[in-house]
Amino acid sequence: MPLSFGEGFGVRLVSVLFKKKPISPGDGFGVRLKILTFAPYMETVVSGIRSTGNLHLGNYYGAIQNFVKMQNEYKCYFFIADLHSLTTHPTPANLHGTAKQVLVEYLAAGIDPEKATIYLQSDVPEVIELYLYLNMNAYQGELERSTSFKDKVRANPDNVNAGLLTYPVLMAADILIHHATKVPVGKDQEQHLEMSRTFGNRFNRLYNNDYFTEPYAFNFSESLVKIPGLDGKGKMGKSEGEGNAIFLSDTPEAIRKKVMRAVTDAGPTQDNQPKPQEIQNLFDLMKVVSTPDTLEHFDNLYNTCAIRYGDLKKQLAEDMIIATAPIREKIQDIANDAPLLRQVARYGATKARESASKTIKEVREIIGFRNF
Ligand code: TYM
Repeated sequence: MPLSFGEGFGVRLVSVLFKKKPISPGDGFGVRLKILTFAPYMETVVSGIRSTGNLHLGNYYGAIQNFVKMQNEYKCYFFIADLHSLTTHPTPANLHGTAKQVLVEYLAAGIDPEKATIYLQSDVPEVIELYLYLNMNAYQGELERSTSFKDKVRANPDNVNAGLLTYPVLMAADILIHHATKVPVGKDQEQHLEMSRTFGNRFNRLYNNDYFTEPYAFNFSESLVKIPGLDGKGKMGKSEGEGNAIFLSDTPEAIRKKVMRAVTDAGPTQDNQPKPQEIQNLFDLMKVVSTPDTLEHFDNLYNTCAIRYGDLKKQLAEDMIIATAPIREKIQDIANDAPLLRQVARYGATKARESASKTIKEVREIIGFRNF
């Protein structure tokens, strides 16, 4: 059990030795010396983003912002989930292009390859091997009950493939392969984390050990984040329809256009009336990109029925432009730097495989694969 000294750091008891002083015949007693050895210990963090399109504000505030903070305090592995993207059958060119885009945007957002291990999931085949082992103890019923599986089946009834069904198992393999305890993700991934714990614990029970530790979803604030989209309905997402998401690579003009088209209602008619979902969504977006004073100003206008949604949207768009500027300005330069991308991906793959191959070796032994 590690002892924790603040966020992410601590020491772990690595060995306990007993030395017995020789007892001379007739002495009647001896001395047992206990030697405790401690090693510096850093909690492990794993997270990834599916490479299915450009990253948006939901990815940033739900995940990447935490990645950037955590890299200073934890042993971090951040990967590009290109294997997960295969459920939607990308073309070879698309597969490569979207994976590159995520890598570029990770770097532009401030993930530092010297501090965190950045890699492509497909560069670490040990993950696929662990996925196979975990699949043997993942059951159809529980996989079919996963909310994201049910959502995907509803959205694409003609493409209910086995990869989609076992998506949470691959995710568990991503996390367990490095023994992560903290997984920075948005609210939508909470159930997947619960399933990762289930699969890890089931493996432990089956082989009668405590090999895998339990991973938990993490956010620096009290609760996990869900960033709404601009369509007035649910969350911001890559595939939620045109205009729903603000991408980190969007130009200021594109951001203004999308925000001005966001769904609103006819406006409040009574003081302090509750906000309908589409209006609450705009206020929630303002909460993450604007200052508290700006938020309070528009909240007061809403509560006194003096709000003009056009003004709110203009302010929201400008604040989004400011919030994304430092990332947007770096994207193009990094995308053009092929040697840098190659170096980061290779270095990351080597480091990730070091950790992953150790796990696979141990897992194989636990399962009972032996050399002849
Ligand atoms: P993906 O690619 O859908 O999303 C990547 C990350 O962004 C977060 N996110 C959001 N957070 C708040 N509000 C939103 N509107 C929003 N949209 C997306 C997600 O919660 C996620 O943290 N299954 C994962 C990828 C993955 C993974 C893993 C993550 C594969 N293996 C292992 C963690 C650990 C996914 O599809 O995320």
